[in-house]
Amino acid sequence: MESKTKSLQQVRNKVASAHKDCSPAEKLQFYDQWATQYEEDVFVLNYKAPHLAAAALASVCNINCDSKLVLDVACGTGLVAEELQRFGFTLFHGLDGSAGMLEVAKNKQLYQELKLCMLGQDSLPFDSDKYDAVIIVGALSDGQVPVSVVLELLRVTKPGGLVCLTTRSNVSNLMYKANLEEVMSDMESKGHWEQISVQEVEQWEKAVSEKEVSSKSDYIPGVIYIYRKKLRPLT
Ligand SMILES: C[S@@+](CC[C@H](N)C(=O)[O-])C[C@H]1O[C@@H](n2cnc3c(N)ncnc32)[C@H](O)[C@@H]1O
Repeated sequence: MESKTKSLQQVRNKVASAHKDCSPAEKLQFYDQWATQYEEDVFVLNYKAPHLAAAALASVCNINCDSKLVLDVACGTGLVAEELQRFGFTLFHGLDGSAGMLEVAKNKQLYQELKLCMLGQDSLPFDSDKYDAVIIVGALSDGQVPVSVVLELLRVTKPGGLVCLTTRSNVSNLMYKANLEEVMSDMESKGHWEQISVQEVEQWEKAVSEKEVSSKSDYIPGVIYIYRKKLRPLT
C-alpha cells in the first residue's frame, strides 16, 4: 500500500522553493498555497521551533499564564499558540501576511483575534504597550521578515512584558542572524529592553538543502532569545 506520508526529499524540494529569492509578495503567495500542507510537511522535517519557543517563554512566565495576552507574530497555521496552550496560556492574538495560513489558524479557534499584515511594510495593527508577551517563530530569517520589525515587536509589548524571538543559525542565515543580534543589542544599549536568555538549539529542524547537511547531523541549528521590555526606557 502506498504511504501517505511524504518523504523527506519531497518536503525538501517543496520547502527549498520557499527559501529561493523572490519578492515578499511572492513569498506570501507561496505560503498561501502551502497552508493546508504546511503542518504535515514540517512534521516530516521534525520542526521543533514552536515547541521549544513556547517552552522557553513559559519558563520565564510561569505564573498566571492563563491571564497573559500573547501576540503571535507570523503565526502561520497556529502551531505556536497550540504549544503555548499546553503550557497554560489561553489568550492569543495573531497576525500573518498569508491569508491562507490565517485561514488554517482561524479554524483551530485558538485566537481571539487574527489579522492580515505584511511585516516590514505595514506597522503592526495594534496599540502600543498592549501585550504581556510577543512571540515570533520561524519568520525572522533571510528572505522573510526584515530585522527592522523588532522595533514594532517592542512597541506593542507592555512595559515589563516579554518578547520571544527565534532565528536559524544555519550557514545561509548567518548574515541575517548577525544583523538581528546587532539590532537587538543596540536596543538593549539604549535601555529599551534587557536580555533574559539565549538558548542555542542544535536540532532545530532537518535541513532542506543538501549543502546544510554535515557528516555529524542532518539538522540545522537555531536560537531562541527572550527580552523583557524596560518599565521606563531611557530617553
Ligand atoms: C515558517 S512559517 C512559521 C509559522 C509559525 N510561526 C510556525 O512556527 O509554525 C513563516 C510564516 O511567516 C509568514 N511571513 C513570511 N514573511 C512575512 C511577511 N513579510 N509578513 C507577514 N508574514 C510573513 C508566512 O506567511 C508564514 O506563515
